Amino acid sequence: MQKTDAAAIQDLAGDQKIAMSTLHIPHPFSQKHAEETINSAHEGLSEGTSYHYGVIARNEFIGIASLRLTAGEPGTSDVMYWIGVPYWGQGYATEAAQALVKYGFEELHLQRITGKHALFNSASGRVLQKAGMRYDGIKQKVVYKDGAWLDSSNWSVTAADHFCKQPQLQVLGDGLV
Ligand SMILES: CC(C)(COP(=O)(O)OP(=O)(O)OC[C@H]1O[C@@H](n2cnc3c(N)ncnc32)[C@H](O)[C@@H]1OP(=O)(O)O)[C@@H](O)C(=O)NCCC(=O)NCCS
Repeated sequence: MQKTDAAAIQDLAGDQKIAMSTLHIPHPFSQKHAEETINSAHEGLSEGTSYHYGVIARNEFIGIASLRLTAGEPGTSDVMYWIGVPYWGQGYATEAAQALVKYGFEELHLQRITGKHALFNSASGRVLQKAGMRYDGIKQKVVYKDGAWLDSSNWSVTAADHFCKQPQLQVLGDGLV
């Protein structure tokens, strides 16, 4: 992410639909918030604690996808993303989440990647599922947002899952198929 992305970040993240389903995006979303987003992306990268990337489609900045190391759980990282409303429903979040899972295991050598979303956010659940995650169930009252404790749907994928995805030979009867 670069300083020149601030206007696009402010414009897209400023839509209330983005704040509604994310934990860390305030509404209204000011230019200062956009600049802080970029600064904290650079800080996280230099400290090795988080990896925030701009999602670019056809040379346009359309959203942010991130991996954030989970405190107290070495080798584990949480995946997060948002895509600007005009670009919804075109597979961009799925593509970004799949790229981050691959990056997390193959470049960062993580052991486990997790994802979570509010129960009403079934689109996000589908994104995590298509990124290769398995459903781990609901955690009750773990997210505090807008004055209320909410339940979350939780997903995860391990390095073993990721690297074992290639087709396996199956033993059927007496032969190998
Ligand atoms: C959730 C979000 C990232 C999805 O982005 P997107 O680029 O539209 O997602 P995709 O196009 O990759 O679609 C993913 C799947 O969700 C489905 N989907 C999209 N909108 C949906 C909706 N309102 N309800 C149910 N499923 C929906 C799509 O059909 C697709 O599944 P399919 O391939 O089986 O058809 C986007 O809506 C968003 O940024 N929301 C606000 C921020 C947010 O919720 N971030 C995640 C926080 S946990």
